[in-house]
Amino acid sequence: MEFKDLLQTADWKSEKHVPVIELPEKVAKDENIQVKVGVGKEISHPNTTQHHIAWMELYFHPEGEKNPYLIGRTEFTAHGSSVEGADTSTVYTHHEATFTFRTGKRGTLYALSSCNIHGLWVGTAELEL
Ligand SMILES: [Fe+2]
Repeated sequence: MEFKDLLQTADWKSEKHVPVIELPEKVAKDENIQVKVGVGKEISHPNTTQHHIAWMELYFHPEGEKNPYLIGRTEFTAHGSSVEGADTSTVYTHHEATFTFRTGKRGTLYALSSCNIHGLWVGTAELEL
């Protein structure tokens, strides 16, 4: 099996693990773009010590280039555990982040999310300038 075969995807409206990429309606060349990425937009994903989204990454692949660029990575590190045990702290990092970047080229955005139980998931969006 190749690594790419471990990346799962589906329609985010029916699968809670797929990262959803939200872009502004208008995106201008060479101006900062705010890209919101979240998991469970339609169907919420659990956020407990036992079951949570651990991290997300956002990549941009400009049209015609060989490699994608990693725009950013975020880790969600609080999931309810404390010295008292699982789900006792009441502190939970929510699995949502905003990445800001600029580009002079159109291309494709890829967001990866990692669930500690259900593995790696990918969501995509086209970036038109
Ligand atoms: Fe999960």
